[in-house]
Amino acid sequence: MKDAIAGPADGSARVVEDLPTRDGYDRWSALYDEEDNALCLLEEPHVDRLLGPVEGLSVADVGCGTGRHALRLAARGARVTALDFSTGMLGKARAKPGADAVRFVEHDLREPLPLADASQDRVLTALVLDHVSWLVPFFAELGRVCRPDGFVVATVMHPAMLLRGVQAHFTDPGTGRDVRPASAPNAIADYVMGALGAGLVLEHLSEHAVDRALVARSARAAKHLGWPLLLLMRLRPR
Ligand SMILES: C[S@@+](CC[C@H](N)C(=O)[O-])C[C@H]1O[C@@H](n2cnc3c(N)ncnc32)[C@H](O)[C@@H]1O
Repeated sequence: MKDAIAGPADGSARVVEDLPTRDGYDRWSALYDEEDNALCLLEEPHVDRLLGPVEGLSVADVGCGTGRHALRLAARGARVTALDFSTGMLGKARAKPGADAVRFVEHDLREPLPLADASQDRVLTALVLDHVSWLVPFFAELGRVCRPDGFVVATVMHPAMLLRGVQAHFTDPGTGRDVRPASAPNAIADYVMGALGAGLVLEHLSEHAVDRALVARSARAAKHLGWPLLLLMRLRPR
């Protein structure tokens, strides 16, 4: 862990606390669901559109966090396996109504996924890729567990945010510090080449910016008005 004074784009100086990814999310889990999260608001309808109907399908939610997608998908009739390495985030997920319908597994995504080859109709990894520096083997694992007639949906904070000094972070209400779980400074090219390098077929790639409708729902989005916030991919095994 290291502390540093950082000056973000808005010119203010804040005390930054950099943490290993898992420790950061364990700490963040206490308030993750209560925060105004513009990225989640923007992302959710796109995930639903790209995934399509899931009733009766097996779905892996890779890096499930507090179960935001896993629980919604299970409520729609999917058989969901949800993986994450943060005990704090998983604890929040497991305590929610409907959690019994999801198979939650504590797992570090640096290791091979604990799922059989071609076992999943849909594979979702939502807002996780910006913590993944091993993109080719990671995408290869997503493709390995996906059925040949299934597909992978991946969402991530748009890399343009890095140019604005923004990465996954939260303010610790106890210390006032800007806490940052370790992230990887991936560019769009890294995501595209990572997926292609893993042998996946890129079927959909889109970028989504903050508009006034989002700002109306999320005060925190206002400072990013007009900037791309979300990158979306749909991928198929070859
Ligand atoms: C921004 S949260 C997103 C959670 C959830 N997918 C969502 O969209 O609400 C990122 C999640 O990725 C998980 N994560 C990051 N690196 C991981 C790794 N190496 N192994 C397992 N989980 C990881 C974190 O613990 C955290 O829960």
